[in-house]
Amino acid sequence: MPARILVTQHIPDEGLALLRGARDASLEINPTPGAIWTPEELRARVPDHDYLLCLLTDQIDAALLEAGAHGSPPLRLVANMAVGYNNIDLEAARRLGILVTNTPGVLTDATADLTFALLLAVARRIPEADRFTRAGRFHGWQPLLLLGTELSDKTLGIVGMGRIGRAVARRAQGFGMRILYTARHALPAEEERALNASFASLEDVLPRADFLSLHVPYNPQTHHLLNAETLERMKPEAYLINTARGPIVDEAALVAALQAGRLRGAALDVFEDEPRIHPALLQMEQVVLAPHIGSATYETRARMATTAAANILAHLRGETPPNLVP
Ligand code: DGY
Repeated sequence: MPARILVTQHIPDEGLALLRGARDASLEINPTPGAIWTPEELRARVPDHDYLLCLLTDQIDAALLEAGAHGSPPLRLVANMAVGYNNIDLEAARRLGILVTNTPGVLTDATADLTFALLLAVARRIPEADRFTRAGRFHGWQPLLLLGTELSDKTLGIVGMGRIGRAVARRAQGFGMRILYTARHALPAEEERALNASFASLEDVLPRADFLSLHVPYNPQTHHLLNAETLERMKPEAYLINTARGPIVDEAALVAALQAGRLRGAALDVFEDEPRIHPALLQMEQVVLAPHIGSATYETRARMATTAAANILAHLRGETPPNLVP
């Protein structure tokens, strides 16, 4: 009986081609382009599949995993096409003997690029300037028109110095920024020197950062890491950039801080309750918004799809998948 693979959305062809080429496997893909299955729709489909290739929009909760584990065939592996896996109940997966894989490493540069694009966009007010120009409001150069903030000689606070945090720090070198970072462990001294980076506690980073960029995974420890109290400790002329996960920031507290002028601006690629966005953010000129596109390049999405597929194929061959989530 061929192994059955379920893919919850259309993913780049490179990944599908790998799966289609697998011997002894059949593939079922969500037939509606752009459609996201509801949790009920997904739960109804999972039970007769060995493998599930899913996205961060799919809630892989205990009920779904139970349904999969008791299906025929039982679900054996969930391959998340994302580096983050906060959409999966890992505890339930472990209990039920279902393996989980992710796609680390392949989206580092794309996400760091977007972080810097957002940082520059909010610092130099580019979306606002674009709206201003298109509205026919440009009547000539003016000394006080759309003034922004320079990057050089500023402090970039980085929360989380994993692959993406370090890639952001490397980009900051080109802009003459100092890095102050907080992480579970300090980097080796040589790497700190190369990145012009100093290790500090979050408490020390907050009042010193001109820009604060978040690069930690979302979990109970990082839930609302930026909240009314921590936002209060930031400089009023600072900017917050979030390309990690929305619920790391208490969105209502961020709105209150921006409305009160306790923060100069924010650039957000992720939101607390996606795809919902706090309505006040949509109205603010000092906020730049993007629809969770950190990894959205042709190159990176192709790599994410092939990495997720490769995890399934390795298991099919009886090997340990390369990106098992511990
Ligand atoms: C991830 O992979 O976790 C990103 O948020 C989406 O690419």
